[in-house]
Amino acid sequence: MSLLIKNGTIVTADGQTKADIYCEGEQITRIGKDLEAPPNATVVDATGKYVFPGFIDPHVHVYLPFMGTFAKDDYISASKAALVGGTTTLIEMICQGRDSRPLTDGFEFWMSQAVGKSACDFTFHQSVTRYDAQVEADLKEIVKAGVASFKVFLAYKGAFGITDEELYHTMRLAKQLGVIVTAHCENADLVLELQRQLLSEGKTGPEYHYWSRPPRVEAEGVHHLLTFAEMTGAHTYIVHTSCEEALNEALAGKARGLNVWVETLIQYLLLDKSYAELPNFEGAKYVMSPPLRDKKNQEVFWNALKQRFVATVATDHAPFDFKGQKDMGRDDFTKIPNGIPSLEDRVNLLYTYGVTTGRLDLQTFVDCASTQAAKLFGLFPRKGTITVGSDADLVVYDPNYRGTISAKTHHLNLDYSAFEGWEIKGRPSVVTVRGEIAVRDGQFVGIIGRGQFLKREPTHF
Ligand code: URP
Ligand code: ZN
Ligand code: ZN
Repeated sequence: MSLLIKNGTIVTADGQTKADIYCEGEQITRIGKDLEAPPNATVVDATGKYVFPGFIDPHVHVYLPFMGTFAKDDYISASKAALVGGTTTLIEMICQGRDSRPLTDGFEFWMSQAVGKSACDFTFHQSVTRYDAQVEADLKEIVKAGVASFKVFLAYKGAFGITDEELYHTMRLAKQLGVIVTAHCENADLVLELQRQLLSEGKTGPEYHYWSRPPRVEAEGVHHLLTFAEMTGAHTYIVHTSCEEALNEALAGKARGLNVWVETLIQYLLLDKSYAELPNFEGAKYVMSPPLRDKKNQEVFWNALKQRFVATVATDHAPFDFKGQKDMGRDDFTKIPNGIPSLEDRVNLLYTYGVTTGRLDLQTFVDCASTQAAKLFGLFPRKGTITVGSDADLVVYDPNYRGTISAKTHHLNLDYSAFEGWEIKGRPSVVTVRGEIAVRDGQFVGIIGRGQFLKREPTHF
């Protein structure tokens, strides 16, 4: 199996150059001008196109039992959609409920959902939803099996949320094992009390979701987490950061020397809270946590990305149908399953509204959509860059493509798109996973089940 990608502009987080890329087996073996290939090699002409490293989405839910229902995608639909959109590696959150045990069964179950179904490569963040001696032993096993990141929820009390005592022990263990702790930061008690208050006032529509989780509630979550990071020395990664107040808490943590990194989502960069205020319950399509914010936050995050204060742009893909799932909360916003799916569209949206508008240069685009995730989560330089020895995960990207996003054409198993009708300027024309072509011109041509579990070593000591 050999592949030659000719005449493209190779873009990495460090720079760009015009050259050919030759791949033998699953890796890149040569990069240079006018490379020759054997007659049986597959040749892709990338003239006028960019060649990016495969994109990495570091925050995805595929199998997700949540709020009385299950997320709609499975690894077949999710990985096809990811690949068509240029994402060649996804990192899923293993989210077992607080009462399910042992954790190792949860890990094996999540793995069984992906193996044999995923067309793209995958790995997991292991949620810690309670803490005791058995959990500690299980976590050590799971880390040995190749999962080098934990996930904690300060929100969702009674479901995934943990107590402060549990948080402390989780973070101490993480520090000892060199594991980074990814965290959903919102003050769970405040959310519960605000929800009760709003419902008691008859405020039941999707637009009130925002008021049950205002910016200060998220900022308090970040502040809280970082106090524990300071006491334990654990390295932390704040997922789905949505507002300036929360970002400032994270930056204050960085300023006092903490090892903290910030993730934002494509949804927060492009959508604002007015979407959740749409009439006729349409707003439910835009309910997620933390909620969509005031538009003024968007410029703050674009600038923070440009300055590299924000490390990654993810999706927190959490797909629930509008009919039959989101409408479980028609009379009570607290029952609307939280999530705005965007796994298929993240890269094209970030390119269109980040790069073509001049908000991000190409290097920053690659960095925040691929390289940083690889570096933070122990995948670099196997993933996240284009160099000899890296996996041949490549995205030949056509900047001249013009199209619109629609649920009618997406590969997700979902009855709506939060970005219905949005214009995109550019899309992957060829996507490869470890040297095999998986996408051509928006069509999935890959192999279901070829995706591999990526074993990772801890690096956050
Ligand atoms: O609304 C969201 N974010 N849904 C998915 C679960 C989570 O909190 O990441
Ligand atoms: Zn979350
Ligand atoms: Zn999530």
